Amino acid sequence: MRFLPLCLTLALGCSAPPPPLVPAPPAPPPPAPVPWSRFAEIAAWPAAAEPFANFGHPDAGDQAQARVSPDARAAYAELVRDSVLPEGSIVALFHSDRTGKAGPVYVMEKQGGTWAYRALTAQGVILEGAAGRCEGCHQGAVGDALFGIPRPREAPRP
Ligand code: HEC
Repeated sequence: MRFLPLCLTLALGCSAPPPPLVPAPPAPPPPAPVPWSRFAEIAAWPAAAEPFANFGHPDAGDQAQARVSPDARAAYAELVRDSVLPEGSIVALFHSDRTGKAGPVYVMEKQGGTWAYRALTAQGVILEGAAGRCEGCHQGAVGDALFGIPRPREAPRP
């Protein structure tokens, strides 16, 4: 029995000290979101028309400016009910607020005969889940699911 205190001392008091707490290294910053692969190219296309007041996309911004792929520019400018834009056409609407600050960019791309709809941030990063309602509205558009550049109303006839 005289070994009991010694045993207890060894078991409790002399157990190895816990390892010092090493602070966890800081988590690496999340990778910067990557713009959609065609964004830089589209942003460099000339505007298809002067900016116009945006009514079609509430919350996207007060103003909108269209940029269109070169092969589709003429057809888009003269859009009528039976217009059909060529395969691969891209029509993009760049929104901005009343101070001119860039807002979201809405893109339609014709792939396999149908339009793919994408909503991007002002920096061109795809807004996941934001393109659900696009098609339903655009189906009722002027021609080929497009509304076209708003035209000034004709003066009423006397
Ligand atoms: C509530 C109806 C509505 C919804 C939803 C809608 N749009 Fe539109 N869109 C319009 C209207 C109307 C225009 C014509 C411009 C205007 O009047 O502001 C337009 C114009 C456009 C244009 C320019 C080409 C054209 O039609 O002349 C693109 C590109 C576009 N929309 C993409 C999108 C995308 C992408 C989405 C979904 C993220 C979307 N739209 C959702 C109504 C809508």
